[in-house]
Amino acid sequence: MPNTESDGPKQPKTGATPRAAPSRRTPRVPAKVQEKSKAGLVSRILNIFGNGAPVDPAKRRRRTVQALVAGFLGINLFMFLRFFFPRTLFEPKTLFRIGYPSDFGYGVDTKFQKRRIWVVRDAEGLFVVYARCTHLGCTPDWKPSENKFKCPCHGSGYDSMGINFEGPAPRPLDRAKVELDAEGQVVVDTSVLYEWPKGMRSEFRDPGAFLQL
Ligand code: FES
Repeated sequence: MPNTESDGPKQPKTGATPRAAPSRRTPRVPAKVQEKSKAGLVSRILNIFGNGAPVDPAKRRRRTVQALVAGFLGINLFMFLRFFFPRTLFEPKTLFRIGYPSDFGYGVDTKFQKRRIWVVRDAEGLFVVYARCTHLGCTPDWKPSENKFKCPCHGSGYDSMGINFEGPAPRPLDRAKVELDAEGQVVVDTSVLYEWPKGMRSEFRDPGAFLQL
């Protein structure tokens, strides 16, 4: 008897056209379905205040106005509260102690460079140089090997007393106010500066500009 289909596994027929492998491409969404889903999205946005259920136009208008009013009041409340938390810039103190005069030897002391000052002591006394270039305000560096302050921005140079001698700086480095407190410690106030503008009187010998020791 000849083999029937139930007699065993199917054998491919010799010479039969092989079946095409199933395509892996994303199936194309028909245009009608796309339009429908777009319409669904629009209606969902339009019905945003109605929990998905269609809302009549008058009701929707009322809810929109309520939302706008609530937003407006919320922003105003936020601004009102913000008033009690001002943006404060915490700057370093301008008035501080630096120790006793005997703590400083002759020459330039860079211990307080973080506070933007150098303490200079010579045979006459002690003064404080404010580390701000008189050209455009950069912070110069102290170069001990060259015995000078050098501004990295445009090359101004100042000697160990802070007197300008090269570059575009128009005047010597300013000096901060110094005085002794009741304990005999040196107190510096960088909010009070003494200048020596070009062609004008020097303030470097004014009371407060230096400490005679
Ligand atoms: S800012 Fe110092 S040389 Fe210009």
